[in-house]
Formats: sequence, C-alpha cells, structure tokens
Amino acid sequence: MSSFTELETPVPVVDLDRLARNLDRAAAYATEHHLSLRPHVKTHKSPRIASAQLRRGAVGLTCATPFEAEVMSAVCDDILVAYPPVGAVRARRLAALPETLKLTVALDAPEAVEHIATAARDADRPVSVYVELDLGMHRVGTQRVDEAIALAQRIRECPPLEFEGIAFYPGHIRSGVDQQAAQLEALSSALRSALDAFERADLRPAVVSGGSTPTLWHTHELYGVTELRPGTYVYNDRTTAAIGACGWDDCALTVLATVVSTAVPNQAVIDAGTKSLGREPMRGTDTGDGFGCLLEHPDVIVRSMSEEHGMLDLSSTAWQPHVGDVVRVVPNHVCIVVHLNDLVVGLRGDAVETTWPIAARGRR
Ligand SMILES: Cc1ncc(COP(=O)(O)O)c(C=O)c1O
Repeated sequence: MSSFTELETPVPVVDLDRLARNLDRAAAYATEHHLSLRPHVKTHKSPRIASAQLRRGAVGLTCATPFEAEVMSAVCDDILVAYPPVGAVRARRLAALPETLKLTVALDAPEAVEHIATAARDADRPVSVYVELDLGMHRVGTQRVDEAIALAQRIRECPPLEFEGIAFYPGHIRSGVDQQAAQLEALSSALRSALDAFERADLRPAVVSGGSTPTLWHTHELYGVTELRPGTYVYNDRTTAAIGACGWDDCALTVLATVVSTAVPNQAVIDAGTKSLGREPMRGTDTGDGFGCLLEHPDVIVRSMSEEHGMLDLSSTAWQPHVGDVVRVVPNHVCIVVHLNDLVVGLRGDAVETTWPIAARGRR
C-alpha cells in the first residue's frame, strides 16, 4: 500500500479510523437516549458511508435534493427530504423514487402541500409529511404554531399524503457547546408549547425531528424530540472543533495539498485554493479567521486564496515548510469541500487503503 504522501494533490483524504469512531459515537448516543438517528447525507454524499450509518442502526437517511435521494435509494428504503418539495419537477422526481421506499418530506407552505400531493397522486404512492417549524433559525418553517396546525390539517385532507410529524433545524445555535444552555432551553420550551398545541388540536405528531452537529450531544435534552439528523459529525471540521462539538482528533477529512511556493516572506503557498476549499468563513462566534488550518499545525491558517492557490500565514509559527512538502488542511466547512470534489481517498494511518466516489455531488 502506498503512503498518502505519494498522492496527486489537492485531494480530500479521510482518516478511516476517525470516521468509524465518529459514526460509532453518534450511533451509541442515539441508542443510549432512545432517539432515532436519521443522518443528513449532504456532508458525505456517498452511499458507502450511508450504508455504514445504516449498519450502525440509523433508521433512515435525510437528503436535501432529489438527486441525493435518488442516489441514496440504492442503499436505503426510508428517506426524508428535509427541503420544501416545491415545483412540479422537484415534486415529480421525489414521487418517482422507488415505490418500496418510504418517502417523507418536510414543508412549511400550502403550495408545497399541493405540489407534493399532486405528484403523489399521479405516482399513486403515499408520502409522509413533516410540518417544518421555525424555532429560531429563521430560514424556513412556519412562524406560528396555529399555521403549522392548519398545515397539518390540510395534509390530512390530501391523501395519499400522511401527516407524520414536525421538523425543525437548530442551525441558529452555533456558539461553543458550553455556552448553548440558554438557547437550548428556549428551543426546548418552544417545542413544548408547539407540542401542547398540537395535542390540543388532536394532532399529536408521531415524529419530532431535529438535531444538528453543533447541538448533537444535547439533543436528548430537547422536549419531545424523537429523531435527530446530524450531518457534519461524520467528518467534522474546523468550525465543529472550534465550538467544542468534537475534538481536534475527530476531524476525519482533510485536504491534502502540496507547498508550491515559499517565495514571499512569512508565507507558503499550497495548491489548494477556492476550488478545493471553498470560500467558507468560520461559523459561530470568535472561532477564528482564514479558510482552514493545518492538521499538524493548527496555528497556521489559510489566510487568503485564489482559485488554485492557498496562502498559508507563517507569521506566528516556528514551522518552516519547504517547496514540495505535503500538508493536510482542516477545512472550515467540510460539506462544501466534499461537494467540490469527485472522490475521496481513505487512509489507514499513513497508508492509502481505498477510494470512493462522491456519488451524489452536484445538483442534477
Ligand atoms: C434541514 C437540515 N437538517 C439537518 C442538517 C445537519 O446539520 P449539521 O451538518 O449541523 O449536522 C442540516 C444541515 O444543513 C439541515 O439543513
């Protein structure tokens, strides 16, 4: 087996032992707290990792796009599309998924109900529906509980749709894990009042679906939650480590890059720029600058980028790289890095063990 240092760069490499540990930890957490794990595939976009999640007890998968759902239908027969099924083409594609697959969608508007109901009727298949509530992220989701209840009632009047539950995404909670308590409490009490109102309307949701990587390990503290949908946890990234939702040793995916120039003082240039790393800032509060940092030297950040150049800031390190050295960059936001690449190389220690395609990348 060859060493990773012989790979052509830039290329994303995955530490297989770290990946397995991340998968195991979340599966054990879900089991311990009697929560259904429905991981979001947007992070890995790979049937191979989806299968590993299902083998460890995931009840199904979460997808964002019809293409993700189509690709994952080869390995999974229970898929939630946590994205509004709006537009005839999108709705038809979803309804055309294998009829043996249990399809669930999340939505927040009567128009979306009509679109997916029409497609479901045309395809003659049941579709389960979660009503999405905005519990603080302010992206999608009904703003008031009575609106959510009216939507659930509307869904009930639209066979073959079936009202199954409510969904929310706590993407607004991105501070350090030990500073999240007040936001988690507010979220929990919003959930309690929403669920009480559903109960009073005789519409008790069978599923309450939430969860994210920054809040992963506190999901069981949220009132009524039955299902969690973390995505980033498989690989983790610089942001996840900075907020304490994982350790530095849990960052499983890095971008392998070669130092191509040290001509400018206090700087080394690597062959990974925006087309490898994306231009993703750190998310969360006081988490750091730059567009990534080195696995072995976290104090060395990618200060700026062109498309094929990443400028490493050497001003606060004693490390002196040479042209031709290879380095591993921990990206700020790993999901974007995966999306920018066609394949991933799996490493066992320093040895190249395997590769796999990022089969559901792109928006086809
Ligand atoms: C609707 C929804 N659910 C779950 C997730 C997973 O979140 P994370 O990557 O923080 O685990 C996302 C991420 O964007 C999302 O949009």
